[in-house]
Amino acid sequence: MGASFRPSTALLGAFLSSFMIFCLYPKPVLGITRHYKFNIKLQNVTRLCHIKSIVSVNGRFPGPRIVAREGDQLLIKVVNHVPNNISIHWHGIRQLRSGWADGPAYVTQCPIQTGQSYVYNYTISGQRGTLFWHAHISWLRATVYGPLIILPKLGVPYPFAKPYKEVAVIFGEWFNADPEAIINQALQTGGGPNVSDAYTINGLPGPLYNCSAKDTFKLKVKLGKTYLLRVINAALNDELFFSIANHTLTVVEADAVYVKPFNTETILIAPGQTTNVLLKTKPRYPNATYFMTARPYVTGQATFDNSTVAGILEYELPPNGFHSSISIKELSLFKSILPALNDTSFATNFASKLRSLASARFPANVPQKVDKQFFFTIGLGTSPCQHNQTCQGPNGTMFAASVNNVSFAMPTTALLQAHFFGQSNGVYTTDFPSDPTIPFNYTGTPTNNTMVTNGTKLVVLPFNTSVELIMQDTSILGAESHPLHLHGFNFFVVGQGFGNFDPNKDPKNFNLVDPIERNTVGVPSGGWVAIRFLADNPGVWFMHCHLEVHTSWGLKMAWIVLDGKLPNQKLLPPPADLPKC
Ligand code: C2O
Repeated sequence: MGASFRPSTALLGAFLSSFMIFCLYPKPVLGITRHYKFNIKLQNVTRLCHIKSIVSVNGRFPGPRIVAREGDQLLIKVVNHVPNNISIHWHGIRQLRSGWADGPAYVTQCPIQTGQSYVYNYTISGQRGTLFWHAHISWLRATVYGPLIILPKLGVPYPFAKPYKEVAVIFGEWFNADPEAIINQALQTGGGPNVSDAYTINGLPGPLYNCSAKDTFKLKVKLGKTYLLRVINAALNDELFFSIANHTLTVVEADAVYVKPFNTETILIAPGQTTNVLLKTKPRYPNATYFMTARPYVTGQATFDNSTVAGILEYELPPNGFHSSISIKELSLFKSILPALNDTSFATNFASKLRSLASARFPANVPQKVDKQFFFTIGLGTSPCQHNQTCQGPNGTMFAASVNNVSFAMPTTALLQAHFFGQSNGVYTTDFPSDPTIPFNYTGTPTNNTMVTNGTKLVVLPFNTSVELIMQDTSILGAESHPLHLHGFNFFVVGQGFGNFDPNKDPKNFNLVDPIERNTVGVPSGGWVAIRFLADNPGVWFMHCHLEVHTSWGLKMAWIVLDGKLPNQKLLPPPADLPKC
């Protein structure tokens, strides 16, 4: 008896003391588990007078919205009912130690085959704001995308006045033809793929396109209120300007990170980026409706879709006002004014306004020292035409794109599995060049030799390496703005400029105080951008241009971040239902 009495007193003591500690601190708000089911199925959709069968989630276009709070766990079961292989990426989610749920096909998982399913399992930690999810294989994200909204923890306010209402505004790109056929054909012929037929807001092209007046996104607002627009660019290949006629927008967040608020008439948003803006509605009934429009920002030489998507901002009639007899048709319609299609000075100016909040509550943890430096050239190039034929790329070659002149060859098995199980042989090598093998005048007169090399080369980073990466655009086949997206991390954009990066002069101007923190950044056309991140998330992390055509051409690579020493610094084991190749 006595012998068994002692341990239980000790246990009781331990219980009491932990109970007391528990009472001394504010009650931690624990996240909940949220379940979603994504049935990938074909769905007939009509746009621009064309009926088309699209790959969809649950028959919806755009797909369903995922809403969670910071700290929540998400369990999303994806069931594939279509002939295509599929995988879904939760764009911008940090996936701490849960890389198996990241989604890029052949990087963190084999795709989900027809008739198979996979449960994406991850916990949202240290993030709140607007992100999105999309298919991450071939060009299926053309129709398979939707908002991913992370609310702050219960009871935690926004760092701005609580909006009256929140609305997702998600841009897409519509193709009358099958996007899979378009990219497959382009990769066969070596030429540029056909461009889209329309841009869409929440899946709707709007009145500036044929047959589309009935397919217009309408935002009905009340007088004198503040609306939070969660703007997402899910378009395949185009950066977009966005503006609402006669209204000013206040930018408060980018890529699910709060920013120092600033006012602007127009925002610029690249594929892969998200921007939260506040819209203050007019205090008095304006007798008018307003266009909200988006059209591309284009710097490259390829043909592009130069059309404009329009939605309509409509004011609700004030109750029992004398306006009640006015019909919508009698109201004047104001058009929004957007920058010129190639307005790079707008792009530069807009980028310079984006600053981290850098407050006590939301600090900007910019790495102050750098362990490892990288310099990557980003740009287009060519590959030889196969089978001695003439291809439709430049001078009979095939279009390619590369990082440090390596055009990334996709493996046929998943990189993360190969890494985790120590089976990299024949799958990938770890000799990705840290700098261009042959330096040249990157933004000067392009060299005659435009050929890229091919390989599945990765960079290995020890856990907690502090990385500085300069991404330098090249003028090979034309300078162009490239929105580069890094999986598994946010990074800080510490500097950017035009021409060639100067390692002696440019770092002196880096902003290490309040640089914007994000997951996708535009490498300026004919310029460079410098980013820093702390490699504190073990796994294999894809990095690529979020212009899908450039990804298809090989503008992609991956980082391996090794496990740390502590148990909570290691990649979790793969889930049992991880798809097989
Ligand atoms: Cu939104 Cu790897 O992409």
